[in-house]
Amino acid sequence: MSSRIVVLISGSGTNLQAIIDACDASDYPGKVVGVVSNKADAYGLTRAKNADIETITLSHKSFESRKSYDQALMSDIDTLSPDVIVLAGFMRILTPEFVKHYQGKLVNIHPSLLPKYQGLNTHQRAIDAGDTVHGVSVHFVTAELDGGPVILQAKVPVFETDTSDDLAARVHEQEHRIYPLVVKWLCEKRLHMKTEGDNEFAVLDGKILSISGYAND
Ligand code: GAR
Repeated sequence: MSSRIVVLISGSGTNLQAIIDACDASDYPGKVVGVVSNKADAYGLTRAKNADIETITLSHKSFESRKSYDQALMSDIDTLSPDVIVLAGFMRILTPEFVKHYQGKLVNIHPSLLPKYQGLNTHQRAIDAGDTVHGVSVHFVTAELDGGPVILQAKVPVFETDTSDDLAARVHEQEHRIYPLVVKWLCEKRLHMKTEGDNEFAVLDGKILSISGYAND
């Protein structure tokens, strides 16, 4: 049975597009059943509409607290009966209640080789630090911001002449390769999050993944 994927966005939605395109393959084990945005002008909403996918816009501006917004967000998402929830450039910090509600079903893509450069401006920070290698991580979402167990990373070189935009473009290409793959593993139920005490691990095909996720060197 095909898994029901809900994607949360705030912007352009190129990762959303990569997942929509992957779902077009007849053997892909999931389908995007809804796209939720906190911004009415997010171009990703247009991508969803072009693909005949239901959209929900829920602006955070009309809510008094993060908690009340996240409660409303959960209610909206749950109307779509999701199996997998994908954060694809959803630029909001989530409450512990939200994260717990979707524990093990909620993944994020972050443009750095975590645990390096949690937070914003990751490309410029990699350049400023003189890094020669940069990249992207897909990870399970936990209560710790950008801190959940890594599932898969992709690396890119950093060249001396790179601007932040150059590097972002190079990283984006890799994002579009690895995110549909991880979502596929989740849809196939090959991928789980395991909790032991205060520690969480990503588990693929019964094996605990290392701190850098699935070994892809
Ligand atoms: C992506 O580069 C993603 O890694 C980043 O937002 C971009 C969204 O692009 N996410 C974060 O920075 C989360 N902390 P897209 O809208 O074109 O998919």
